[in-house]
Formats: sequence, structure tokens, C-alpha cells
Amino acid sequence: WARYAPYVAAINALKKERGAVILAHNYMTPEIYHGVADFVGDSLQLAIEAARVEADVIVQCGVHFMAETSKILSPEKTVLMPDMAAGCSLAESITAAGVEEMRRKYPGAPVVTYVNTTAEVKAASDICCTSSNAAQIVAAMDSDTVIMTPDKYLAQNVANQVPQKNIVWWDGSCIVHEQYTAKDLREFREWNPGTRLIAHPECPPDVVAEADFSGSTSGIIKYVTDEKPEKAMLITECSMASNIADELPEVDFVGPCNMCPYMKMITLEKILWSLHTMSEPVEVDPQVADKARLAVQRMIDLSQ
Ligand code: 13P
Ligand code: SF4
Repeated sequence: WARYAPYVAAINALKKERGAVILAHNYMTPEIYHGVADFVGDSLQLAIEAARVEADVIVQCGVHFMAETSKILSPEKTVLMPDMAAGCSLAESITAAGVEEMRRKYPGAPVVTYVNTTAEVKAASDICCTSSNAAQIVAAMDSDTVIMTPDKYLAQNVANQVPQKNIVWWDGSCIVHEQYTAKDLREFREWNPGTRLIAHPECPPDVVAEADFSGSTSGIIKYVTDEKPEKAMLITECSMASNIADELPEVDFVGPCNMCPYMKMITLEKILWSLHTMSEPVEVDPQVADKARLAVQRMIDLSQ
């Protein structure tokens, strides 16, 4: 912590001067999560907070689509991204033309789009979803067939939870969660009996089937905090366990994890630079933002 302390102090002082708040995703490293964030959460919680927060400036510690969602919900605020290159393999897997292609293939079916997408893709969709509300949103659609974009694994996991719907999906995936296999989980359980396996729903469905629990990043934190298993393997991004390990000394976090190279582009140095230079502000074309806002707001309204 000693090497982070000067950055943490400087960021927290500058944050006040600029009237800024730092919204951080659960995958941020511990020095960001515990040191400088004003609010931490999963994608849905961050979107709700962005709309609610009173500050004029938001520093989004997460990936680009999260900053865009904040800007869509709060167009009058300055939303700063410490590194514009922090993308997401899911967001890169589809464009608005891809959504139109799905609509042509399945005429009349509503498009439920994961928030891990660009503003243009959200604008082309009927409603958004996150990992914490996807099943609820799909179940609420007034149609037997529902198009889910762009995460095929989230769609397949939702299909298992909402069997009354015919779910069709786009062929996207998360480079972090697609690496886990059911065989890895089975072997791990054999070698480490008693370990609670907890998987994010961006993992393939056979991985989720091997797990004891599946949920959004905040759902995972809540599960471990409530259950306090003796040993837990979080089948998701590495910072998740690092961020909660100190508060849960009774839980032994075991097993391998995968790192999201995009999330890890956000560092204390870049946050400080961002606040110092007020860069880089995220911009969304107002017409695109108006349409995308409808899709995001419909999701927030249905989730509350
Ligand atoms: P959550 O909404 O569960 O935080 O997921 C976001 C994400 O990018 C996971 O890879
Ligand atoms: Fe995207 Fe996967 Fe990284 Fe989440 S973990 S931001 S879904 S690449």
C-alpha cells in the first residue's frame, strides 16, 4: 500500500476540487476499489448510480461501455475515462448492423441487449439487460421468441432459467469467462473437496452447471459474504477475490482466476492524470443517446 498512498491521497484531494465522483466496477484492483472509489458495484448498480449521483463529473473506473452508459443516462455530466482503449470483447463483437441482421432473421422478436455493448447497439435494441436481471427481463418480454445479443453464453444460461422462451443469440463471448471449462471445475472439486464454486453467467452453461452458484459480480460478492464458505473459488475476474479477501478472513479463496486485460488498463496513475487534465470526456451522439437511453431506462424500470 505504501507505494499507492501518494496517488490515493492526490486523487482524493483532486476529486473534491473538481466536484467529481469515482464510480468503480467490482473488477477494479484493490487500490482503486478500496482507495479512491466513491461507489463500487456491478454493471446495473453503476448504471443506476450514474443516473442518481449529483456530482458534475464522473470518473468511470471500468471499461468504455460503462462510461457510455453513464453518459447516456446523464448527458449533462462530464464522464471521464482514464483510458479510452479499455474495451470489451463482447462490445466489440457486434454493431448496430448485427442487431438489424437478427431482426431480419427473427421478424417481430424483441431484442434484449446486454449492457456490454456500444451506444449504437443499445440504440438499435428494444431493451438492455445485465447479468443480474437478464432472466427477469427476458421473462417479461411479450413474445415467445426473444433475441439476445451479444453474449451467447449469457443467452444459453438464461435459456436454462427461462425455458418457456425460445431464445436466439448472437455469437459473442467474453475472453475472460470463456476460458473456463467444466472439466477444470470437476477436477478442481476432486482435488479440493469442500470448495464452493461460484461462476459468473458469462461462463459457458456447462461451467455454470458445475458451479454451486451463479450471479453478477455483486451477486457473487453477496453470496460469499452471506454464506462465508470455508473455501471458495470465484470463476470470474481475479480482482473479485482480492477485493473482498480482507473483509472475509474466514474464507479461503482458492484456485486460478482469469484477468480482464481491459479492466486492468485502469490504474491509479491514469485516474490521477484524468482528473488533473479532465480527460478524456466520453461523448455520445445525442440522437444515438436518446434512443439508447430508452433501452437502458426500460431495463432499470423493469429491474426495480
Ligand atoms: P457484472 O454486471 O456482473 O458486473 O458484469 C460485468 C462484466 O463485464 C463481467 O465480465
Ligand atoms: Fe468484457 Fe469480459 Fe472484460 Fe467483462 S471481463 S469487461 S465482459 S472482456
